[in-house]
Amino acid sequence: MHIAIIGTGAREHAIAWKLSLDPTVQLFNFGPTHNPGIAGLCQAVGIGDVTDVTAVLQWCQEQKIDIAWIGPEAPLAAGVVNALEAFGIACIGPTQQMARLESSKSFTRELLDKYEIQASPSYRVFTSMDGVADYMWSLQDDVVIKPDGLTGGKGVRVMGAQLKTREDAMAYCSELFAEGAKRIVIEEKLVGQEFSLMSFSDGKHLVHMPAVQDHKRAYVGDAGPNTGGMGSYTDANHSLPFLNEHDVIFARQINEQTLYAIQEECGEEYKGIIYGGFIAVRGGVRLIEYNARFGDPEVMNMLSLLKTSLVDITKAIAERTLDQLHVEFAPLASVCKYVVPQGYPDKPVRGEPIDITQVDQAKVQLFYGAVDQTEGGLVLTGSRAVGLVATGTTIAEAEQVVEQEIKKITGPVFHREDIGTAALIDERITMLRNLRHA
Ligand code: AMP
Ligand code: GLY
Repeated sequence: MHIAIIGTGAREHAIAWKLSLDPTVQLFNFGPTHNPGIAGLCQAVGIGDVTDVTAVLQWCQEQKIDIAWIGPEAPLAAGVVNALEAFGIACIGPTQQMARLESSKSFTRELLDKYEIQASPSYRVFTSMDGVADYMWSLQDDVVIKPDGLTGGKGVRVMGAQLKTREDAMAYCSELFAEGAKRIVIEEKLVGQEFSLMSFSDGKHLVHMPAVQDHKRAYVGDAGPNTGGMGSYTDANHSLPFLNEHDVIFARQINEQTLYAIQEECGEEYKGIIYGGFIAVRGGVRLIEYNARFGDPEVMNMLSLLKTSLVDITKAIAERTLDQLHVEFAPLASVCKYVVPQGYPDKPVRGEPIDITQVDQAKVQLFYGAVDQTEGGLVLTGSRAVGLVATGTTIAEAEQVVEQEIKKITGPVFHREDIGTAALIDERITMLRNLRHA
């Protein structure tokens, strides 16, 4: 069996690594860069634009691909799955219509309303500045402004963070419309603790993964600009230290209801990953957003814990038999941290060498992201460079191992020392407890 992995980041390295543990399949990789970690696991590597539907299809046909794992959101939104499936190549990833769950924030909010899934904050969709001021001042709490469409996590602006006042929020809306935005979602700002809950879907059955918390801000203490995610952790009980069991059950139910809704709406089967970005708030759990693919870095935690063969899961998704597979995650905690170039995300250094040879890969799983292999060694290419994951009986144990190994990486890089530490986790527990018992 020939399996292709589309995309060349650390997420795709994690997928390729897990698939490679089953020697019965041959792996192939297509994407914009040459990822040395992925290339070492593959029979062939194609370099190209993953949103160029024709190029992806042609390459998959040349390599006689049976099943393609679509890593990032951009090729899903571009319709790569529609093209591959039309030529008999099974895909792990939804079609373009269903990927609107991620690629259009207004679509998702309206879908949830239509199917009476009660998990959204107050929100309204605007196509011009008409009514924006009235709505903004009618909301008691702070607001969040979201341009519709994929923005790589950089388009959303939140009052209290990137926006100071409602006037700033108005100015941002005007700016977005002036730049050609068609639709903007304005919603109430939710206060609480964010977490992700991802599920495998074969179109009929869902298999939920452990809850996981990402860290979007660049610097220690949740300071600095938003990034793709600096690191993530999970707990041994597959919940998170600040959540109660109702929170996790609710998030799973929302994924189930949303899967039903999107399939009903589009008349198609959703095969792949459904990723709910949730926030535990005073009154329960609310939905921040949906993604239509594995989270990065969260995937590194998930696949490090997954005990079942990812090849078996892949086949079961393609054949709609996920219910017949016993999917198991190790009852362990995990911590993942990224090293990123100095200056990331705004002005990252590029082309500088990074030395990872001292990392003990018996202790941590290492995934290559934005790095290039040159004659002189590995060099940084400007985004999240290398992800390290450890598992352990407690979060603290896993955190210590990652910290010990990540410090051995040299070069103009940094990472967040606080991810997974007791101090940061205690802060989160206290914050939510105070909110819920106030
Ligand atoms: P998104 O692109 O939808 O993931 O949004 C990026 C980030 O903005 C999220 O991870 C949250 O931290 C924040 N965010 C989005 N929507 C809200 C909301 N309604 N309330 C509070 N924070 C939000
Ligand atoms: N870690 C957030 C994301 O993958 O969107």
